[in-house]
Amino acid sequence: MSIQETRIVLKNIGKIDPYRIEDYINAGGYEGLKKALQMKPVDIIDELMDAGLRGRGGAGFSTGMKQKFTSESCQRCPQRYVVVNADEGEPGTFKDRVIMEQDPHLYLEGTIIAARAIQATKGYIYIRGEYHESIKATQKAIEDAYAAGFLGKDILGSGFDFDVEIKLGAGSYLCGEELTMLESLEGKRGNPRIKPPFPAEKGVFGMPTLVNNVETLANAPLIILHGKDWYRKYGTERSPGTKVFTISGQVNAPGHYEVPFGVSLQQLIDLAGGIRDGKRFKAALLGGAAGTFVDASMLDERMTYDNLREKGATLGSGAVIVMAEGDPVYDILHNCLRFFRHESCGKCVPCRVGTTQLVLQADKLKEGGGDKEALLKQMVRESEIMAGTSLCPLGQSPILPLESAARYFSKELCTTQH
Ligand SMILES: Cc1cc2nc3c(=O)[nH]c(=O)nc-3n(C[C@H](O)[C@H](O)[C@H](O)COP(=O)(O)O)c2cc1C
Ligand code: SF4
Repeated sequence: MSIQETRIVLKNIGKIDPYRIEDYINAGGYEGLKKALQMKPVDIIDELMDAGLRGRGGAGFSTGMKQKFTSESCQRCPQRYVVVNADEGEPGTFKDRVIMEQDPHLYLEGTIIAARAIQATKGYIYIRGEYHESIKATQKAIEDAYAAGFLGKDILGSGFDFDVEIKLGAGSYLCGEELTMLESLEGKRGNPRIKPPFPAEKGVFGMPTLVNNVETLANAPLIILHGKDWYRKYGTERSPGTKVFTISGQVNAPGHYEVPFGVSLQQLIDLAGGIRDGKRFKAALLGGAAGTFVDASMLDERMTYDNLREKGATLGSGAVIVMAEGDPVYDILHNCLRFFRHESCGKCVPCRVGTTQLVLQADKLKEGGGDKEALLKQMVRESEIMAGTSLCPLGQSPILPLESAARYFSKELCTTQH
């Protein structure tokens, strides 16, 4: 059955001028914040928790739960922070950019609501430096929100103060990882920190910090304004609401598509115009480089965090990179491995050496001769060891595309001359 988009987060896209706060307000903007300012912080957290909002940065962790941990940790700390993760470094992912460029007040409003929930008075929006239009639109939104009394001291006469500023990333994938981002925010080199402590306990400048993705925060004003029951009308029991998927590769209409959680992969591909040149679907890489390959047997699977995890796949950031018959899986896998080698910060041995080794072994897969099946198995085994011994999630990621590619496409990877 074919489906249409369900736009709630993207409802203003193409309809309002992102540089005019009046347009946003006329479309119902900042009503969620007004309501949140009348609520107790704990009630905001409960509303988001009961709505079942889950982080859209990749892990799908409960947003309300994270807010609860942050608001309850270190009562004696003089400061609490909200950090917006707008680094969007996962290959194939461009959903946050759409929100930032075309409806920046929506996630800014969500950021202020989140700050109110955890009683933070200071926030940072960490945007990747290459996202010039996102930076420009967000900067204008911040200035206009200050002028309209939605930011700054005593917001709308509520007694609540909150300031926010933009910080720029310099194009490191690893700086999208929350603890590495905090190091970068503090002006240090983008090396990860050891977890725990989590940002909720000890975040930026050692203070309790809530780190949330742009799309996650863009959901918050809608939930507060319309309520958890309205939100739960979309999606599934365990993955409520909608998700913005970014579909690229061999589809007729690549782009961003907002749909309720639970639609199938086939429905998503149909929404993106189907496979190019009337070809048959071969594979998709779900969730970007730190994601998993799937084959046609997964086309009818429901796109939710839990269902995909149960089937050995990932939803991640919502990237869907589609391959058609004839497209070599090897090329995309090789790209992923080179990407990890390039982005490894080199701090720990398993990842620094392992990511380089995997690329060299992938090069060997391409050459003729040798026992390629044994080589592929060895690569999977090594990536498992990396996953168990690396310091941060980057070194734990190559296993995802590698194991899934080997699971579905071992024959092709081992027999074809690439
Ligand atoms: C290597 C790496 C890169 C990441 N890049 C991003 C990113 O660009 N944007 C993002 O929101 N989350 C990214 N994450 C996930 C964050 O660490 C974190 O889980 C997320 O910002 C939490 O927000 P959420 O709960 O709203 O999803 C990355 C994680 C890893 C391991
Ligand atoms: S796992 Fe990789 S990216 Fe993470 S600390 Fe180790 S070397 Fe750096």
